[in-house]
Amino acid sequence: MSPSRSAGGRAAPLRLGVLFSGAGSNLKAILEACERGAIDAEVRVAITNRPRAAGCAFSRDRGIPTLVIPRNAFPGREAQQAAFRQACVDHGVELVIQAGFDQILDSAFVAEFRDRMINLHPSLLPAFGGGMHAVRDALDWGAKVTGVTVHIANDDLDAGPIVLQEAVAIEEEDTEETLLARIHEVEHRLLPAAIQLFAEGRVRVAGRRAHILPPK
Ligand code: GAR
Repeated sequence: MSPSRSAGGRAAPLRLGVLFSGAGSNLKAILEACERGAIDAEVRVAITNRPRAAGCAFSRDRGIPTLVIPRNAFPGREAQQAAFRQACVDHGVELVIQAGFDQILDSAFVAEFRDRMINLHPSLLPAFGGGMHAVRDALDWGAKVTGVTVHIANDDLDAGPIVLQEAVAIEEEDTEETLLARIHEVEHRLLPAAIQLFAEGRVRVAGRRAHILPPK
């Protein structure tokens, strides 16, 4: 391995674009994993659609371009979506990550980043997909197990090929808050692990499946 190569064998870190709408704990987990050298990646741009998203601080404090692209700054949805897409293209993004992003990306965005965009969802998909309240939904349903899914984001909401999943047991005394805390612990590990698979070129999408190839 030449000295300029990272542990995963890449000549340069995988360039990430992270889209988020809220607290940004997953954005923070990605940034910290990059800093620790746990993943061969770097966040090139962080993008939010919510001007008050707390997560902005995590990327701004690190001097990473952090763009606020709210719906009401554009004449229509298409123009806002084009701005998301252009920002990722302009920053040379190789992998887009939806980390708690509460807007559906349009088909032009999906086409630009086909098989190069992942979404994080707080349930074992296909259970409890389609919204931003999967943790509450699992509790309300009386499920005994839920979990975390990282999947390829495509035109079908929460239905793209699954890259990684991990189960989280629901305890008798769980509230939305306690369950969410345990789900976050898993997310903060699973999402960086999925990114590293992409950095190592080990994800191959074929139909409904995302195959994970053995290490090179
Ligand atoms: C995460 O739990 C993520 O799985 C969920 O939003 C949360 C964002 O937390 N995403 C969805 O529900 C997508 N439908 P964060 O802002 O602290 O990273």
